[in-house]
Amino acid sequence: MKDKKNVLIVGGTSGIGNQTAKYLVAQGYDVIISGRTQLISDDLKYLYLDVCDEKSVQELFLNIRSLDAIVYAAGITTKQKNINEFDKDIFNNIMDVNVSGLLLCLKYSYKFLKESKGKVVVVNSLASRTYSQFSGVEYTISKSALNGLVKQLAVEFAKDGVLINSVLPSMTATPMLVKNVDKKLLESIEAQIPLGRIADPLEIAKAIEFLLSENNTYMTGSGLDINGGLYLNG
Ligand SMILES: NC(=O)c1ccc[n+]([C@@H]2O[C@H](COP(=O)([O-])OP(=O)(O)OC[C@H]3O[C@@H](n4cnc5c(N)ncnc54)[C@H](OP(=O)(O)O)[C@@H]3O)[C@@H](O)[C@H]2O)c1
Repeated sequence: MKDKKNVLIVGGTSGIGNQTAKYLVAQGYDVIISGRTQLISDDLKYLYLDVCDEKSVQELFLNIRSLDAIVYAAGITTKQKNINEFDKDIFNNIMDVNVSGLLLCLKYSYKFLKESKGKVVVVNSLASRTYSQFSGVEYTISKSALNGLVKQLAVEFAKDGVLINSVLPSMTATPMLVKNVDKKLLESIEAQIPLGRIADPLEIAKAIEFLLSENNTYMTGSGLDINGGLYLNG
């Protein structure tokens, strides 16, 4: 690649975001990762970010001069509970991280994206197409909201040549999954997946790279389903 493209990975300190960062570096991109956990590495520049705090988002973008793409991989999940245990604070927190954090990042980065006719890739989830086998209703709601967000902003951004799309992975081998799903249960779930296994984060990273690359010139407002045939959409 002649001119290196600058990509910011929000939630680049772990899991899908971190794997995407490493993959993009290997493909010749300049990558900044952000999150609350400081990660020191030779290849990746790290900037602190708490997406729940608007000041933190604002500060991050004061430290950036140009941007060709943003990947929003920050996300949290909740445990499944009965509706009588619904907790508004838990709901608000997951919406802050999974949805409002993305809106804030776009608010403060849009000038850069407009300038570069850049790309946005949102890491959504299969849960937004159906339901979540492991997470709570708050998670499914937050992920469903991202579908509306991507479609609405695709139209708003189109006039500036900025493209926004999402990937919708099913279960992927990351710390989020390992922390929340029992190994035995996971094995029984894998038996239900036509491809017979959960995804590797690299498989998600490759789809993200396509969406933010120069090969994507006409896709916007779309969601790429990456689920081993578990959910057949269309
Ligand atoms: N793993 C799966 O099976 C799966 C399946 C479908 C979709 N997804 C989605 O993929 C995305 C990434 O998940 P993952 O599995 O890679 O999880 P993960 O390994 O737990 O990584 C989550 C990332 O989100 C960041 N984050 C969380 N709260 C944040 C905050 N307040 N401010 C800034 N960053 C924050 C974390 O960084 P810090 O902790 O450093 O802040 C971390 O980098 C999520 O949106 C998830 O819903 C995952």
